[in-house]
Amino acid sequence: MKFFIDTANLDQIREAQDLGVLDGVTTNPSLMAKEGITGEKNILKHYVDICEIVDGDVSAEVVSTDFDGMVREGEALAKLHDQIVVKVPMIKEGVKALKYFSDKGIRTNCTLVFSPGQALLAAKAGATYVSPFLGRLDDISTDGLNLIAEIRLIYDNYGFNTQILAASIRHTMHVIDCAKLGADVMTGPLSSIDGLLRHPLTDIGLEKFLADYNKGNS
Ligand code: E4P
Repeated sequence: MKFFIDTANLDQIREAQDLGVLDGVTTNPSLMAKEGITGEKNILKHYVDICEIVDGDVSAEVVSTDFDGMVREGEALAKLHDQIVVKVPMIKEGVKALKYFSDKGIRTNCTLVFSPGQALLAAKAGATYVSPFLGRLDDISTDGLNLIAEIRLIYDNYGFNTQILAASIRHTMHVIDCAKLGADVMTGPLSSIDGLLRHPLTDIGLEKFLADYNKGNS
């Protein structure tokens, strides 16, 4: 399972990278705005800054909603850095753009996916990643994890290569559940990764081991 961090915050990206388990970064216009990164020039520079911190894929989102605009933006984003993956929304023009990019060998992440049918279309169009937003489904009393399971089943039935990128992860249990369901990738906040390492018995056990070791040294 690949671990991506879902943020545009460079300090958090560095922290996750330092842990040694980071495989990539996802961003979106809202995450950029949260860090005060606005305006095309600043946003493009920020993508490059992120690529220089991590070794893996960095999703950069197009903001056009028409095919020509998405193609123009996506080609420019892909030229920024070879780690860039072009993030395209699941709308009709987006499906056409996914197919275009796939034919050109430009990697894509189909975003804002909320149903198995949308995920099937994204795979048919040759998306590299599909991003089902499980947290946002949970927010409206719909089982987000069930969507991950349905997409896994469909992709396995036909051997689609599109990777399931479980997105809108809110906490550590989402990560564990997505791992059980066979999501290829998860993207979440730093706290969802940090939470994986915590266990009180680990802390108690370590404290005892160190205390016993030090008995011989006092
Ligand atoms: C995915 O690529 C999105 O950036 C993200 O996971 C959305 O998460 P949210 O629902 O917490 O905003």
